[in-house]
Order: sequence, then structure tokens, then C-alpha cells
Amino acid sequence: MRFYFAPLEGITLAPFRQTHQAFYKGVDRYYTPFLVANQTLHFKNGELRDVDPALNPGIEVIPQVLTNKAAEFVWAVQTLAGMGYREINFNLGCPFPTVTSRGKGSGFLAFPDRLDAFFEEVFDSLKKWEIESDQKEPDQKEQDQKEPGQKEPDQKERDQGDQKERDQEDQKERDQEDQKEPDQKKAGQTKPAQMRPDKKEPGKEEPGKKEPDNKGLSGLKISVKTRIGWENPEEIKTLLPIYNRYPISELTVHPRVRTELYSGDVHMDLFGYVLENSIHPVCYNGEIYSVEDYELLKEKFPRLDRVMLGRGLVRDPALAEKIRNSIAGKESPEISGGMRYSDAYLEEYLRALFTRYKEIYPDERHIVSKMKELWYYMKVRYPGHEKAYKKMKKAVTREQYEAAAAEILL
Ligand SMILES: Cc1cc2nc3c(=O)[nH]c(=O)nc-3n(C[C@H](O)[C@H](O)[C@H](O)COP(=O)(O)O)c2cc1C
Repeated sequence: MRFYFAPLEGITLAPFRQTHQAFYKGVDRYYTPFLVANQTLHFKNGELRDVDPALNPGIEVIPQVLTNKAAEFVWAVQTLAGMGYREINFNLGCPFPTVTSRGKGSGFLAFPDRLDAFFEEVFDSLKKWEIESDQKEPDQKEQDQKEPGQKEPDQKERDQGDQKERDQEDQKERDQEDQKEPDQKKAGQTKPAQMRPDKKEPGKEEPGKKEPDNKGLSGLKISVKTRIGWENPEEIKTLLPIYNRYPISELTVHPRVRTELYSGDVHMDLFGYVLENSIHPVCYNGEIYSVEDYELLKEKFPRLDRVMLGRGLVRDPALAEKIRNSIAGKESPEISGGMRYSDAYLEEYLRALFTRYKEIYPDERHIVSKMKELWYYMKVRYPGHEKAYKKMKKAVTREQYEAAAAEILL
């Protein structure tokens, strides 16, 4: 099983990725929050810093790009490939209104024809770079769909999620300143991962005779992270044939539509549909907060071999490690992790993270607000500490913040 750390805007930036990897095991790769490609054909300084290879040593990082223009995406791929990245992830999930209103992120899913044309242009432009697709053979597919069965967060949590969306938009600004046939079975599989057959032929360059501009760009992978639709979960049955037509290296699926944001039931049945009908390797993403959640998922989809963890890993940075221990059959994850699962170790990790942030962000209040953001997710592990958490919410200085954190972790 492979475990990926999901892109989380404002959170999974370079200092966080580095610190997490230094303290906790179990994550195979980390995705950057989305980098915006637009008509300026420039990334913002903060975005460039986040993917600077010098700031990301010894760790597998997959940059994620947000756009809805093929030329912009190709430019982004070229730029990132030039920095040494070999896989670029495309964002088709972001639900923020500022993004979706421009037809980007999950907003792109509302326009399947445009999405199809986008991929066609992208892969047509990139095909000379020998895109790797890793598509599965049809007989390797999952046959193991089960009923949906996920817990439903309460209304309060949902409201907080909405507020969170708004906060995330503000946070992103700050960080940047600082630095077709709906019921078709096995859709599209007759033409696996090729350029669309009714259009131009794929490039015919001979190996070793590539254009100088593309030297060293072979073997690139384009992966996709998607929701299952814009407003109706069944939209995935129109979207999947599109994904199946192109040499996408991996499809990460968060089985919700845009209007469901990040809460409520996940559509496990439709995830099963994707797993069964995608010709690409499929990664599951959503609502895995514990070893038990993972085990239930695995029970539903025994052949699933990759999972992306987001908020669960922020809430418990040792989650991937605990799941791995459980897979390996260690008696008790809590015991086998030893010290590394203790609150004292967590405190050490958070202190190290603060120190890392200090190297990048000049404004201590900004760092405190970033730490508080982590606690928004971690606090559920510490019921009965509401008073200390209130103090943390009011904290402005490092001392105030650390005193409140120490009180919670006592
Ligand atoms: C605060 C926050 C920021 C996010 N930023 C991104 C992002 O930049 N790119 C992306 O593809 N998904 C983003 N997501 C979605 C997550 O990657 C993930 O799909 C989602 O949280 C569901 O997975 P989880 O239940 O394991 O957290 C974000 C989610 C949250 C809560």
C-alpha cells in the first residue's frame, strides 16, 4: 500500500513537508498545494519557493497545478520539469468559489467537453515527451464494490468547514505574499490511454531525435486529482470516459461533488465504479482519520493499493505510520510506535515546525496563526481541553501559543 500526503492549501508547504517527514514515517510522497498557472506564465514567488528543489531535499514531492487553459498547463509542466520534477498533478477538485467561478478546479468538471478538449491539447503538446501512463490491463481491475458507509459530521462541523473554506482563501493570499456516454460500461477502454483516435496521429519522432527544447523531458507523468462531479455524483460516469482517453498516470478520487465541499457522506459506491472502470491506477482520498477507517476502506476495496490522506494526517501526524504498523501486524500500533506516538513527541514536532516556519515567515503572528490552523484539526484528539484551546485561539505571540499547546498536551 502506498500512502500520499494530500495537498492542503496553506498547510502542506515545504517547511511542513520537511518537518513531517523528519518526525514521522509512512508517507511515500507529498503533494504541494496547487500552484496557479495563468496567462502571465509566471508562478508567484511563494509558489516557486515551495517547489524549489533546494527546499525539498530527500523527499518525494509532486507539484500540483491549477488552471483550465492547456497552454498554461503545458507551460507549468515545462517549468516544473525544468526544475527536475517528473510528475505533475492536475487539480480538478478545488471547491473554493474564487476558483470554481472561473471554471477551474472542480468548476472545470461542469464542462466535460472543455475538459476533454483541454486534455487533448495538453497531451498532444506533451506527447513528444513520452508521457508515462501506467494504465492497468482490464483484467487487473477491482471487482469489489460494496455499499457506501461513512460517518456523517454534524452540522456544526459542516459550518466550520464552510468557514474554513473562506479562511483558506485568505490564507492562500497571505502565503503567496510571503513568498460522454453516461452509462457506458468500462468506459473508453477500447482506446486505452491514447491520444484521441479521430484526431491527429501521435508524434512520430524517433527515439534520440527529440527537439532540443525537450531534452531530458521524457518519462514525465501527468496525474489527476478529481472530485466525482460538479453537482451530481453520477457525473463521474461522463467524466471517467474522458480520463480513460488520455495517458494519465494516476487518478486520485475524492468521491464527493463540489457542492459537498469536504463534509457529509463520501460516495463509496461511485468510488467503486471508478476503481472498476478506470484504466488508470486509482488512488482513494477522503475521510480516513484512523487505522479503523483505513481497515474499513480496505475491506470494501481489497485490491486498492494507494490512499491519499489529508486532514487525518494533520490531526494525527503518525497516522500513516500507525496504519503501516497495523498492516504489518504489529500487536498494538500505539505500542509499536513507542515514543513517537506520544504527546511529548508531538510537542517536539510542533516546536520544530514553528522553528522551520521562522526561517521563512518574518511575522511571528502569521506563524502562530498557521500553528492554530493545525490545531483546528488536532483538537478533536484532546476532548476536555476546550478552555486551553480557547486560550490558543486568542494567542498572538509564540509564548502564548506554546503555553496553550502545552496545557492541551499535558
Ligand atoms: C484546508 C484545505 C486545503 C486544501 N487544499 C487543496 C489543494 O491545494 N489542492 C487539492 O487538490 N486539494 C486540496 N484540498 C483537498 C484535500 O487534498 C483532500 O482532497 C480533502 O481534504 C479530502 O481528504 P481528507 O478527508 O483526507 O482530508 C484541501 C483541503 C483542505 C481541507
